[in-house]
Amino acid sequence: MTITFIDAPAALTETRGALVVLLTGDGTLSGPAREVDEAMGGALTRAVEAKAIKPKHGATLAFPFPGGLAASKVLVAATGPDALDATQARLLGGKIAAALGALDAGGATVLAQDVDPALAAQMAAGMTMRRYAFDLYKTKDRKPKEGDIAVAASDGDAVRAAHTDADALAQGTAFTRDLVSEPANKLYPETFAERLQALSEHGIEVTVMGEAELEEIGMGSLLCVGLGSQRESTVVVMKWMGADDADAAPFLAVGKGVTFDTGGISIKPSGGMEEMTMDMGGAGVVSGLMKTVALRKAKANVIGIVGLVENMPDGKATRPGDIVTSLSGQTIEVINTDAEGRLVLADLLTYGQREFKPAATVNLATLTGAIIIALGHHHAGLFSNSDALSEQLADAAKAEGEGLWRLPLSKDYDNLIKSSLADMKNTGGRAAGSITAAQFLQRFVDDSPWAHIDIAGVTLLKEAKPLHPKGASGWGVATLDRLVRDQFETAGS
Ligand code: BES
Ligand code: MN
Ligand code: ZN
Repeated sequence: MTITFIDAPAALTETRGALVVLLTGDGTLSGPAREVDEAMGGALTRAVEAKAIKPKHGATLAFPFPGGLAASKVLVAATGPDALDATQARLLGGKIAAALGALDAGGATVLAQDVDPALAAQMAAGMTMRRYAFDLYKTKDRKPKEGDIAVAASDGDAVRAAHTDADALAQGTAFTRDLVSEPANKLYPETFAERLQALSEHGIEVTVMGEAELEEIGMGSLLCVGLGSQRESTVVVMKWMGADDADAAPFLAVGKGVTFDTGGISIKPSGGMEEMTMDMGGAGVVSGLMKTVALRKAKANVIGIVGLVENMPDGKATRPGDIVTSLSGQTIEVINTDAEGRLVLADLLTYGQREFKPAATVNLATLTGAIIIALGHHHAGLFSNSDALSEQLADAAKAEGEGLWRLPLSKDYDNLIKSSLADMKNTGGRAAGSITAAQFLQRFVDDSPWAHIDIAGVTLLKEAKPLHPKGASGWGVATLDRLVRDQFETAGS
């Protein structure tokens, strides 16, 4: 599918495929919609008067084989009562793409000449996001490719310029979804790292560290997770230094990249284990964020670090009861080898904060099943040592329409991971499982602003939403990109 921008269809009545017209906030037809209405002998006006379509954001009404037009369908889409902002425009694009998909109309022309060019660009990005599909491994029954889309906008140059920015998020999010969707026999630490190395073509500096180097550095916590795997554990550092001041303290994003999680010796039950190919979701979001900021040439310094490991049972695997020494020097009693994500993140957090002195650190991980019990699939869980960073993240998530909810940290919860043999143990029992995981992570961060986002419930979804089909959601790329834009980007960009 390609999206092109045009001034207006050459001849409206001769345009084939679907014609998409907008019903504006107050429930009246937009300028181009009135032209279509006229060609159709007033059918749109009658439909609106009969309240066949409500002026609610994203409501649609389709007219098949409309009289007076060569189009196969006319699709009316309502912009809703509130003025569109970037997020609402993107969502509207997603809802239109979903409606077009259901109509099977072939190509489409969206008449958006009345819409602000920047918002028309967001609509186009929303259509791209909704049309994402992962069908690499289907040789039959592939979803038919959907037709091309032309967006008619009042100012072609303005809309094309805005689209470069808006589309950066769509492309970065698609990168995350691809990584999350790939099975573990195709995407393992080495092949994951190769995909990240390819980001250097966008101006990201990528460094890959293998096991020998990680041992040398002292990442005993991260390395103990991959001991049962045939695949070599890998840490990848991605740097986008786009700030005017090259020395400005960077924003640091850290991701859990467990390419497959069987639980290791503390093996998981087999039912649903195939979903643990998504246990690299945190690393996927960090990778998608890096691609997004690079594509839109963000004027910020952003560093991404991902720990890529596979958690498997084997004669060489870490055993329950083993004690490992983390990069921080703190020792950890591994009570449960299935609580492996925190072991990976611990060393990455120490490394990232020591090496880069970040202005703020956010780590993301599909960390606990308990967060799904607490928040279901509608909010990711937020934990932080900083009220300011929490608020910035909550604002960014709200603006982007991604669910995020803060949970507490405290000394009482921290006490639950005390160990009699080592400095701490890696699990705190059934109660407050997501919080004790976060307390564990906090033992590896300094006093600089830090937040942990548990995305176990939002990474892979059984239902489609306006901006994605069912499957990998890409949750978090938009929120973190917004955080970078609002908090870390130099003014004037
Ligand atoms: N990767 C899982 C958490 C997870 C569960 C992610 C469901 C996505 C969906 C994590 O490594 C894990 O196994 N956590 C354990 C921790 C427990 C042993 C303390 C869990 O949640 O059961
Ligand atoms: Mn696990
Ligand atoms: Zn895991």
